[in-house]
Amino acid sequence: MKIRESGMPEQAYWESFFDVPAILDAFGFNLSPNRQSNPCDIVEVGCGYGTFALPLAQRIHGVFHALDVDSTMVRTTARRATEAGIKNLHTSVRDILSDGFGLPPGSCAAALLFNILHAEASLALLRGARDIIQPGGLLTVIHWRSDVPTPRGPPLSIRPTPVQVLDWAEQTGGLIPPATPLDLPPWHYGLKFIRST
Ligand SMILES: C[S@@+](CC[C@H](N)C(=O)[O-])C[C@H]1O[C@@H](n2cnc3c(N)ncnc32)[C@H](O)[C@@H]1O
Repeated sequence: MKIRESGMPEQAYWESFFDVPAILDAFGFNLSPNRQSNPCDIVEVGCGYGTFALPLAQRIHGVFHALDVDSTMVRTTARRATEAGIKNLHTSVRDILSDGFGLPPGSCAAALLFNILHAEASLALLRGARDIIQPGGLLTVIHWRSDVPTPRGPPLSIRPTPVQVLDWAEQTGGLIPPATPLDLPPWHYGLKFIRST
């Protein structure tokens, strides 16, 4: 089942909302330019157009798993990867809510939950992401801010604030919270959790 309010606008409009390299750098994904020294696998749940998946796959030597329930999104991400000559990005049409992540526990160094935690099942998403991250790995979240007017984003009634996500993560367990949220101008915040156990 598609997560509520998870439809996407036209690609160029969507991608105008983000400074993608700055966001990846802010999370510490400014890995060695020598990709061979970054042998880690990463997963994104709800990859959309591959806005973050494509550039992050180019920064690692392992596999980037890009999952989305929408086959059009998955096709677009796969086509863009082929056009860019990116070979380590694996795309799958997958309903995370009904079918889970489909990856072995502890198999990934990081998971991306980007613009998706307004889901009905936010705790299930956090639990699923935590379980496939290895100890010391990163669970990364970005979402639209609620404290400034934004050109898009889910209704404020279901848009999670940093405080809300921190509370869900505490309920999830096994996640070390960040001291402060990341400011990802102009309209997003980020949270970087570390899997503890
Ligand atoms: C708002 S978009 C965010 C896309 C991407 N993470 C980004 O920030 O650019 C949410 C994405 O989640 C996908 N999605 C919604 N429900 C899903 C589900 N049950 N399983 C997997 N993906 C889902 C949608 O198809 C959509 O592409």
